[in-house]
Amino acid sequence: MPIATPTFPVPLVFSDSLPKTYSALTPAIGTEFAPETQVSSLLSSSAPSTSIRDLAILVSQRGVVFFREQDLTTAEQRELVDRLGKETGRPEESGLHVHPLGGTNELGGGGKEEVFKITAEFNGASEDSFNRSTRASNIWHSDISFENYPSDYAILKMNTLPKVGGDTLWASAYTAYDRLSPAMQNFLSTLTATHVGDTFHAPPGGKFKEPRGHPENNGQHLSASHPLIRTNPVTGWRGLYVNKFFTKRINELSVDESDHMLSYLFEHIAQNHDLTVRFRWQPGSLAIWDNRSTLHSATNDYGSATREGDRVVSVGEKPYYDPTSLSREAALRVKQD
Ligand SMILES: [Fe+2]
Repeated sequence: MPIATPTFPVPLVFSDSLPKTYSALTPAIGTEFAPETQVSSLLSSSAPSTSIRDLAILVSQRGVVFFREQDLTTAEQRELVDRLGKETGRPEESGLHVHPLGGTNELGGGGKEEVFKITAEFNGASEDSFNRSTRASNIWHSDISFENYPSDYAILKMNTLPKVGGDTLWASAYTAYDRLSPAMQNFLSTLTATHVGDTFHAPPGGKFKEPRGHPENNGQHLSASHPLIRTNPVTGWRGLYVNKFFTKRINELSVDESDHMLSYLFEHIAQNHDLTVRFRWQPGSLAIWDNRSTLHSATNDYGSATREGDRVVSVGEKPYYDPTSLSREAALRVKQD
């Protein structure tokens, strides 16, 4: 009996309906809108579906998009991130992610369900700091990659910031893929990896919340297997889908081989600063990113100062690798030709 060929989404086409007030921050990743552009206006524009779809496409292509001096309310933030996925073909069962510990900041703490308070709770030295790595590169991650259906989009709006410090960095998984040799790209495309949320611990006698934004994001073991090379359904581009915080094991390799390969790939991301963008927040700044094709890392360099914001994460599709998809580099070259 013939094996059915899987069908994959067709990349979406940008229809250029957004205000032309944005510019690229680096060639690889990051675009910033001028402060006069309010993202809230997209929710009330006359062609909201087109605008929101175009915003999602821009975010997926550029990895992360920044706005400053925003008036977006928390309710609008939830609506916007939900619609970014809805307008770009995410599964119907997917919705806003609920943190395993309930309302919380992303490393554990207090907050409202689906809106995570980003705070400085985990900032600064502790008595144990001598015995822990102090490398800032250790916390590169893609939000909730330990879920069977991880995140498509996320929005963070910062409310309170230290005078200086607390920047966030984003890295392009597309460019990380493009920097690998064709032989390595081919090899990695045959592999899957296990992502584990082992930094989260249910309270004694308590349980993790479930389901968490999708019926298959359930269970008390925060763990999922995903392809190492992931195709983004919105752009159709390939990216390297591993992150130091959650990716623990390449399933098809021995433990030693997996450890060495992951170590190389984490270093590959951390050492290539030209695939990153660093954003200096101001109160009211807002970032929208595509978790499928970027990683990010906060900078804990501001001591006991207050750094506080609201983050909402939506859940997308089950990660897949489409062998007919292109690298970002190849896709942009085709466009120019
Ligand atoms: Fe995060």
